[in-house]
Amino acid sequence: MELINSKTYENLKKAYIAECSARTRYEFVEYGQRAAGYEGLAQITDKIAYQEFNHARMLYTHIEDATKGVIDNEQISVTLPFRQKWDIVENLKFTAEDEDDEAKFYQKAVKTAKEEGFPAIAALFEMIRKVELKHKKIFLFLYEKMKDKKLFNSDKEREWVCPACGNSVKATTAPEKCPLCMAKRETFKIALPKELMDF
Ligand SMILES: [Fe+2]
Ligand SMILES: [Fe+2]
Repeated sequence: MELINSKTYENLKKAYIAECSARTRYEFVEYGQRAAGYEGLAQITDKIAYQEFNHARMLYTHIEDATKGVIDNEQISVTLPFRQKWDIVENLKFTAEDEDDEAKFYQKAVKTAKEEGFPAIAALFEMIRKVELKHKKIFLFLYEKMKDKKLFNSDKEREWVCPACGNSVKATTAPEKCPLCMAKRETFKIALPKELMDF
């Protein structure tokens, strides 16, 4: 089967648009977080948004291959979420749900790509699916913490390093203000759990 005539090609286009849209929505979310002073939180969201860009980039290369490098205007019909607004706590719940929806889409797309005989694309979909599940866990973790007002609490004592001046404070909670330079708690890096730290 030619890729261009396959369901996998349709899935590539849908995934590409979904990734572009996710990236932009996450930049909205990041914008709100930064505006509210949550610099450390915004850095996590920004990194995830950038990862969505790279998902889109790799999907695009397969679309290019399918069209032999001559990309005409394409009709793409997708269902996209329009939920993120300006509540920085609720936004985190929506992003987690969006990631879950994405992972489900990729799960089906992997199956279809295998059935249609496109193992490389199936492998790409599968790798992206796993990343989306990790994103979901990160957003869910952040949502729970924000909701409970425990974003800057840690189960164990840890070093909270001020991003503005480098001073560190050993405690279970980040200082309300850095004792050295007075930087606000919101600017501090978020302590992600070990299994989510590397992303
Ligand atoms: Fe993605
Ligand atoms: Fe994602």
